[in-house]
Formats: sequence, C-alpha cells, structure tokens
Amino acid sequence: MTNNNTALKTNEVARPKRLPRYTSYPTALEFDVLDGARHDEWLNDLPKDEPVSLYFHIPYCEKLCWFCGCFMAVSNKYGPVTSFLDVLKLEVRALAKKAGTLKVCHIHFGGGSPSILEADDFKSLIDVVRACFDIDECSEFAVEIDPRTVDRDKIFAYAAAGVNRVSLGIQDFNLKTQEAINRVQPLKLIEENMQNFKDSGIDKINFDLIYGLPFQTLETIEDTIKKTLEFKPSRIALFGYAHVPHMKKHQQLIAKHSLPSQQERQAQFELASDILQKNGYKSIGLDHFALEDDPLFTTFDQGKLRRNFQGYTKDGSDTLIGFGPSAISSMPQGYAQNVPSIKTYLEKVTAGNSPVVRGLAVTAQDKMFRDVISTLMCYFAVDPIKIAAVHAISYDFERELSDLNKLIDAGYMVRDENLYSITDEARPFLRAIATIFDQYFDQSSDIIDRCIHESEG
Ligand SMILES: C[S@@+](CC[C@H](N)C(=O)[O-])C[C@H]1O[C@@H](n2cnc3c(N)ncnc32)[C@H](O)[C@@H]1O
Ligand code: SF4
Repeated sequence: MTNNNTALKTNEVARPKRLPRYTSYPTALEFDVLDGARHDEWLNDLPKDEPVSLYFHIPYCEKLCWFCGCFMAVSNKYGPVTSFLDVLKLEVRALAKKAGTLKVCHIHFGGGSPSILEADDFKSLIDVVRACFDIDECSEFAVEIDPRTVDRDKIFAYAAAGVNRVSLGIQDFNLKTQEAINRVQPLKLIEENMQNFKDSGIDKINFDLIYGLPFQTLETIEDTIKKTLEFKPSRIALFGYAHVPHMKKHQQLIAKHSLPSQQERQAQFELASDILQKNGYKSIGLDHFALEDDPLFTTFDQGKLRRNFQGYTKDGSDTLIGFGPSAISSMPQGYAQNVPSIKTYLEKVTAGNSPVVRGLAVTAQDKMFRDVISTLMCYFAVDPIKIAAVHAISYDFERELSDLNKLIDAGYMVRDENLYSITDEARPFLRAIATIFDQYFDQSSDIIDRCIHESEG
C-alpha cells in the first residue's frame, strides 16, 4: 500500500503528519536516482546460502475506497490485471537470472488488492516463483485480502500454494462509516470469509482496523472491536486514518466535518487498545496487537521484532526483494525502488529492462542508526551505545543524548544505565522521538516542540 508519490513507500500509507514511520532507514525521502545496473550488481553479490524475503505488489483494486492512501489503481475489468501478471512473471524470471536460485524464508503479497487475482492466476504466478526460487522452507507466506474479492476457490488456491497467513481489510463494522468511505462489507461476508479460511486450514489471520474514520465515535469503535473479538484474529493492525486530500485527491470525497478531532482519535485508539489488551492481545509497537499463539507475540518477547515496509514483522532476513510497480527492495547494500507508474513499469519490464529507478546505497553508520531506530519503534526503548558497539561503530551520540536528556526532564523518558525508555504518557510521540537518531532529519526544531506537534497532528 502506497501512492505514486515517490516520497511514500510501498505498503506504507500516507500519514497526515510529516514525521516518518521508519519502515526503512534512511527513509524513502532520501532516495535518489539509482541505476538498474547497480541493483543488478547487488543482486549478483547476494550470498547464495542466506534466505531472502520476497514482496509482490499487486496494484489493482476493483473499487476505490475513499479513505485509501495506498499505491493502487482501480480496474473494473480483469484484462489489465492479466496483462500485468504476465509482466510480473517476466520480472520474476529476469531477476532470478541475475540473482541465481535463492532460498526464500518469507513471501508477502500486498497492494492494492492481491485478492483480485483469479485462483488459477495466483497459482500460475506461484508456479513461476517456485521455478525461480527455492521456496520449500518458506516459513511465512502472507497475502493481503480485500474480503469483498475472495471466494472459497481463491481461498483454497491460497492454501494449496502454501499461504499460511492472511490479512483482511476490515477497517470498521459500522454501516454509516462504511458508506462514508465507499466500502460497504457486511458482517456476514466476513463470517463467510472466516469459515472458508478455517476450512482451508489457514489459521493465522490479521484484521486491519482503522480509527479516525468518518462518523466513528467511542461507541462505534467499541462495537467494531467487540465484533472483531468474536472472530479471534491472531493479529490486529489498528491504523490511524491518514487524511491527506492534497496528496490523495479522492479523499476530498470524505467530508472534513465527518472526521473525529485529534482528541477523539486519541481516545478511540486508547479505548480500542484497552479492550484488546483486556482480551489477551499484547500491544506491539505503534499499532499492532497479537494473541499469544501469533508468531509476532513470541518474536516480540524474544527481542527479535523488526520493522520493514509491511510494518512490524518476525522476518529476520537482511534481504527483501520487491516485485511490481513501486516495490522497494531492501538489501545489505542498500534500497532499490521500482518505478511507481504501472504504465512505465510494464514498458520497462516488457523491453527487458530493469524497473528500478530510485534508491540509495547504505553505509555502515546508516545500518547502525537503522538498528537504533528500529529498536525504538519496536520496543519504545533503546540502548544506542550498546547497538553502536555491536556494529563496531565509534560514535559519541552527543546531540542525541542531549535530546534524550531533555525528554527525561520533561517526563517523556526514563533512563536505566544506557537504556532509554519512553514513558506511557509519551508513547504517542514515538515517531518524534525516533527522529532524534535520524541523521537526515532537519534537527533545527526543538525535540519537545516536535513531540507536541506530533500529538497535535
Ligand atoms: C493494501 S490495503 C489491504 C488489502 C486490501 N486492499 C483491502 O483494503 O482490504 C492495506 C491497508 O492499509 C490501510 N489503509 C489504507 N489507506 C489508509 C489510510 N488513508 N489511513 C490509514 N490506513 C489506511 C487499510 O487498513 C488497508 O487494509
Ligand atoms: S481495497 Fe485496499 S488498496 Fe484498494 S482502494 Fe480499498 S483500501 Fe485501498
């Protein structure tokens, strides 16, 4: 999910506040022109015995949701999807030729709506992936699902292909809100979906929910969370609605007066979070919740939680290869992003050229700060000095520690030796606090102002 503005990243939606969500570091804002040949070299140099992750961006949806901040295109005919799929297979084959047969530990299909693919088309794409990569030991194979576009056949095709996790776009169960976002999906549809997933053997289910949508109140949020609990999804992502009509013109279809205020949004998140935690969900990072049987729960407890373009993940691989328009590859050498325009993507790949257009080589220091920021984003606490030592980087953190001390004085952080932890009160300031370690971020504003600005955003 992203948009075609290159400042935004694949599988990351636009946010109203300008602070990065740090699904990568350096963030995509720092990307510059990157030659496809450079990416080819990086692929060629990948260690052949280390498993990689694969991300497939399927940019099409059948219908436009007015709140959508993802990189997608509406296609009410299936023809463009078929043509796109042929080209996507070409990209997979071409890349595998450069990289060799790599072992794969994770696969993620995002969009747009991967569930738009017909069952046979999904199967034929996976056949190509299987022919080009070694996916026999893939531990997590996840697909993002628009519940309105799946049926029993598709769900059984996913299970047969090896899919073991799905993420359902639920958003909200309240009809008035569903109508206001042009996405009506009755509870009965979700019940049918869930029964089909159960019958197919796919039992790791995530629900995407959103607060801050039109006409949501504490009562409707409570009702949506209670309905969600009846389905017992093992994981829940609870996103704050990002209203950015200047970037996403279709969001102008959502009347501003129908949107909850910042205080109401905060109260909605807190209420939802509270109910979920009282019902056995562990709060993970900014916006995720997981039951004890979900791998994210264990990964969190083991201190191995990571942040990548899909948000919070148990994926520990150093290499994520992205396919499809706007997809970003994250590699030991750096980031490489495919062209966001679907048309240009199709032309480039069909002509046998690399679709990579932007990216960034990362330095050893970038990797160290990436680790610091990711730890903070996952655990609300970090020991930067310890992380620098692990990376064998000599860095004094003078400015960073001075900012952290200001936060301690303000009651936003506490310190235990070199471990700095964000207090409960300051949890909404997580992204502002992470900017302290962002070497590309304009540090001229005061850190306390940055926190206050984030809470008002
Ligand atoms: C690619 S979509 C998921 C799959 C499918 N397209 C669907 O909507 O069901 C990713 C998720 O991003 C979230 N999302 C999209 N636009 C958003 C926005 N403007 N603000 C916050 N979350 C948003 C929604 O929760 C959505 O389920
Ligand atoms: S189905 Fe998902 S990606 Fe498509 S428009 Fe709706 S929210 Fe956006």
